[in-house]
Amino acid sequence: MKVLVVGGAGYIGSHTVLKLKEKNIDTVVVDNLSKGHRKAVLTDNFEKVDILDKKRLEKIFEKYKFDGVIHFAAHCLVGESIKNPKLYFEENLNGLLNILDCMLKFKVDNIIFSSSCAVYGNPQFIPLTEEHPKDPINPYGETKFFGEKILKRYEEAYGIKFISLRYFNAAGADFEGRIGESHNPETHLIPLVIKSILDNNFQLTVFGNDYNTKDGSCIRDYIHVLDLAEAHILALNYLLDGGTSDCINLGTGKGFSVFEIIRELEKISGKKSKYKIGKRREGDPPILVADNKKAKEILGWKTENSGINSILESAFKWHTSPKF
Ligand code: UFG
Repeated sequence: MKVLVVGGAGYIGSHTVLKLKEKNIDTVVVDNLSKGHRKAVLTDNFEKVDILDKKRLEKIFEKYKFDGVIHFAAHCLVGESIKNPKLYFEENLNGLLNILDCMLKFKVDNIIFSSSCAVYGNPQFIPLTEEHPKDPINPYGETKFFGEKILKRYEEAYGIKFISLRYFNAAGADFEGRIGESHNPETHLIPLVIKSILDNNFQLTVFGNDYNTKDGSCIRDYIHVLDLAEAHILALNYLLDGGTSDCINLGTGKGFSVFEIIRELEKISGKKSKYKIGKRREGDPPILVADNKKAKEILGWKTENSGINSILESAFKWHTSPKF
């Protein structure tokens, strides 16, 4: 099998490339390195290409004969998407359309798409099943929702099969510390709590302690990035074995509050986090927890690395010694 990984230098993409390599699956990585890191790609088969550059993208499809595409490349910050929706709609959607055009032209029939629990909007019930109404509350979530609609229509009209994986909160790092989470700017909770422990000059802001949750802070379903990575390979094999297109949640089914994450990281590090309580952040639902039955049943997926300690210890190890 030969796989194209688009956006393979990013956080989830690079961990998936690592897993593909460990399984000896022939992989070509494409990334424009606007956010990702060349050093995160632990394979030589790398092409610096922007998916908005359709001519160059076509050349990649012409050069190799792919069995499937795993598509990660997208802007993915909720707050940024509210301030700059043009960037999100133009680049996330045109990027997907260009990939699909190449797939049609070069007869590649299978795609795994990075989606998000942001497609659901404010939860009407918890845990969130895939059937929960889709009503995204920010442009980022809308691009994922529209992406899924595009995929459904392309399947009906042209027969391209897809699995759309709706991630909850990706977290953690390679256990050997070779790669990990490295965003600039960093906006995610776990790296920032670690920073508030390691960096004397940094104080974390907890975005709201007045939510209707057990301790007043937001609750999220943190899923280890290596479990996410494994799900992409299972999903592609599922399609190649004749499976049908679907949208599938990837989470653990368990939620942790912001204060719980702070306390657990304090235990792991043996040090105190410096934080203050701030206002709620726009667009943050109080609680997001996945129903993950479908992933287990259809893909045979396991959340074996996603115990909260395993997530936080691997993240802490990476951030104490980042390689990029
Ligand atoms: N948080 C803080 N302080 C911070 C950063 C985060 O209190 O400095 C809180 C947030 O309010 C939230 C929780 O920590 O309650 C997790 O926040 P993250 O920014 O780490 O993650 P999000 O839940 O906002 O975002 C994730 C993905 C998005 C996806 C979204 C779906 O990163 O791509 O889930 O809602 F869209």
